Order: sequence, then C-alpha cells, then structure tokens
Amino acid sequence: MADRLTAVIVLAAGGGTRMKSAKPKVLHQIGGRSLVCHALHAARGLQPEHLITVIGHGREAVEPHVRELDDQVLFGIQTEQRGTGHAVQVALEALPARVSGTVIVTYGDVPLQTTPTLAELAAQHQAEGNAATVLTAHPPDPFGYGRIVRETGGAVVAIVEEKDATAEQRAISEINSGIFAFDVAILRDALGRVGSDNAAGEIYLTDVVAIAHADGHRVGALTIDDLWQTEGVNTRQQLAGLGRELNRRVLARWMADGVEIIDPATTWVDVTVELAADVSLRPGVQLYGETVVEAGAVIGPDTTLTDVAVGCDAQVVRTHGSGAVLGSKTVVGPFAYLRPGTMVAAGGKVGAFVETKNAMIGEGAKVPHLSYVGDAEIGAGTNIGAGTIFANYDGVEKHRTRVGRHCHTGANNAFVAPVEIGDGASTGAGTVVRRDVPPGALAVSTGPQRHIEDWVERKRPGSPAAEAAAQTRNQEARP
Ligand code: UD1
Ligand code: MG
Repeated sequence: MADRLTAVIVLAAGGGTRMKSAKPKVLHQIGGRSLVCHALHAARGLQPEHLITVIGHGREAVEPHVRELDDQVLFGIQTEQRGTGHAVQVALEALPARVSGTVIVTYGDVPLQTTPTLAELAAQHQAEGNAATVLTAHPPDPFGYGRIVRETGGAVVAIVEEKDATAEQRAISEINSGIFAFDVAILRDALGRVGSDNAAGEIYLTDVVAIAHADGHRVGALTIDDLWQTEGVNTRQQLAGLGRELNRRVLARWMADGVEIIDPATTWVDVTVELAADVSLRPGVQLYGETVVEAGAVIGPDTTLTDVAVGCDAQVVRTHGSGAVLGSKTVVGPFAYLRPGTMVAAGGKVGAFVETKNAMIGEGAKVPHLSYVGDAEIGAGTNIGAGTIFANYDGVEKHRTRVGRHCHTGANNAFVAPVEIGDGASTGAGTVVRRDVPPGALAVSTGPQRHIEDWVERKRPGSPAAEAAAQTRNQEARP
C-alpha cells in the first residue's frame, strides 16, 4: 500500500470569466454539489494529512462554502492569480517548512475526478520513486493544453504550454491534465527557481517538470483513457456537458445495483441520493439532495423530490415534494405538492391536487382530492373529504388542527385552526369547523336549506337561466 499522502492541494483561485456569472466558477453545481465540493470529495477520499484549497477570486463566497463542507481544510489565499506555480507556492506556505512526502495537486473546477484515479497516480509515483508524476491524456483535440514532451526512452522531460510551444510540440497529442503527484521537498525547491518569462507572464507549475528533470530526478506519467475525469469547466456549456455525463455515470451505477430506470435521458439523480434495488424510476424524474428511496417504490412519471424519504412499495406519481417522509405503501399524486414537514405513515394517501405542509398523515389515512393540509395531524384510518382546507393561518400566526382516528369528514370542509376533531367523528359536507368536535359526534355548520321561489325569473328576466326554468316549470305543470 502507498504511504499516507502529506497533502492534497486543490487550486480554486481562478476567475471563471467565461461563465459570465456573479457567482464564482467553483460554486456552480452539477449533480447536487458545487464543483469545488466534487474536487474536495475526491481529495478527502485519499485521507491526506493536510487538505489545502487555494482561493482568490470570489473568496468571500468560496471560503465559507468550503469551510462548511470540511472544517479541516487549510486555505492558501492568492490575492492575485499569478499562475498555477504561484498558486502551489501559496498552498505550500500553509504546510510546515520541513515537511516531506507526497503531495497531489489538482483543480477545483474538474468535477469528475475520482479518488481511485488520484490514488493510482500517488501509488505509481511512490512505486517509481518519482520527483513528479503527471496525469496525462490523449484528447481528440489537444488545443489549449500543455503538451507532454518525452525523450526517446519515453521519460517525461518537460511540459510546454500551447502559447509557448513550437509547431513540432503542438503536434504532440499527449496533454497535461493539470493533476500531479510531487515529492514535496523537490517541488518546493524547484518552484523557487521557476520564473515567469513565458507567453502568459505567469509562474507555471508545469516548469517544475523541466527543472526536476535537469536536476537528474525522475518524472513519470500516468495516462488515463477516461478523458471526462480530467475535464475542467470554463463555460456554461461545459458545465452542462459535465453535468450530463456525471448524471449518466450516477444512473449507470444505480442500474448496476438493481434500480429500474425507464428513461435515463430524462432522469436526473444527485450524487447524494440513495436508492434501493427494485426501485423504479419512470421518465421525467428528478431526485435531489438527501432523497432516499426504499425497495419496490415507483417514482414518476414527472416527479421532482428534494430531501424526501420514500418507503418500500410507495407510489409517487407526478408530484413535487421537498422535506417529506413517505411511509411504506403510501400513494401520492398525481399532482401532489408535498412541502417540508409532511409525513405520511404506512398505507396513507395524498391524492390529486393536494398540498401538504407540516402535516402528519396517519397510518392508512387518506386525503384523496383537492385539499390543503397545513399544520395538521390526521389520525390513522381517517378519510378527509374532497376539497377540504385546513385553515391554519389567521394572518398573524399559524395554528394546528388535530383530526382523530377513523374520522370521516365531508366534502368541502374548512377546519379553522386551532381545532380538534375527536376520534371517530364525522362532519357534514360544507362544514366550517370552528369549535372542537367531540369523539363520535357529527358536526354540521350549514343552516337548513331555504328556497326563494321564482327568484331568477324576477331578478333576471329574459336570461337563458330564467327561460330554462320557465320551460321546465311549464312542462311539469302540463297534465
Ligand atoms: C493549465 C496547465 C496546462 C494544462 C491545463 C489543464 C499550467 C501552466 N498549465 O493550463 O498545462 O494542460 O491546465 O487544464 O499549469 N489557478 C489558480 N491560480 C492561478 C492560476 C490558476 O488557482 O494563479 C487555478 C485555476 O482556478 C484552475 C487551475 O488552476 O482551476 C488551472 O488554471 P488555468 O488558468 O485554467 O490553466 P490553463 O491555462 O488551462
Ligand atoms: Mg484551464
């Protein structure tokens, strides 16, 4: 096994001008995580002694974001972006002066990099006893990248930037991914000797390679076939492209683990989501954040869930939900809107055009149609009539409604909170419940129905309604 790494340095000080965004580039997200969060995850997976992020551009936003992700991260602050070599110098200042061992340098805007690839780079670097080992690739179009210059025997002797390369060097197809393993003492020494006499006027990290080689040290390379792992984000287009590829990889992993995904092209799953075998995702499903779905549940079509826990064998159809917990065998949708604090116990139902918030819906309880359930508890086995509103807000404060077990409430009720409906109680259609209903009682609030005869013909003479009424009455009057 490889020695423990001394440090991983994540470079994230660059501006990202081409994103044309007020937000620093590394804070843009794919798969539910910021770009820098993806890089830090890959780096943390190596369990280095130190993890250092170099920040600069937009650091007021980047620093707190990184601290929240990982409070052990050290920072190098690069007030002016003077090149990748300068960025690494700044990072090394965060380490004790006499430190030895291996450091990995990687980028905060390369989101598909993985811990296994970084570990392989470190292992090869240590096994070969290299001063530096570079992760290289052969992209179809090497334009813009630093090229790997090898001598006849194959040893790496230098890396030249596109801007500084001769025509012959530009013809080299092997490129520098920007990801390196270094012997930290050699790196520190060589960086002290790197100048900025180049086309960009920058301190190039890549110049360390030629210096180490000239000093008689070995420089190695690990070539990777999976180009996506080395690809950085500079534009919105690249962000979308890497986002789609990440999603493809996430879905492929879940399918390998037994999840049914009918249409991967329209299914989006964050890297943080957990799915069990035999979950089925129908077309048009987005699962975000800490969403967890248990075995046998069917989600979709056309459903978006953020931080929702879905129990075994639940069915969630055309639903928009966040911060909800759905028990086993629950049935939700179509067209349900689950807001934070919704809990549906096993076998419960939230039906068509129902909105819920801070609502506990008991075992087997049902809210089948056209209702708003806010700040409420509904007991086990209760059925809420169509078109019921839990009026939880008096304009100043929110209040709770409790409906007991095995109640049967009528259509088109309003429960004016705070109010309680006792176990086993019923309510008539159109009831406005303002006072507590005792267990087992029937509550009715509407008065007896009255008729004012011929009102329409008197008040709306000549209208279609008046004519229709007159016609029918004349027919009925005939013997
Ligand atoms: C760099 C490499 C090039 C390689 C390419 C791979 C050098 C000199 N060139 O070129 O060989 O093929 O990456 O994508 O290293 N950064 C800082 N501070 C700075 C400058 C850069 O933190 O002062 C960070 C950026 O935020 C970015 C990374 O370093 O994450 C690379 O910087 P960038 O300017 O994109 O380098 P390239 O010119 O693309
Ligand atoms: Mg770049």
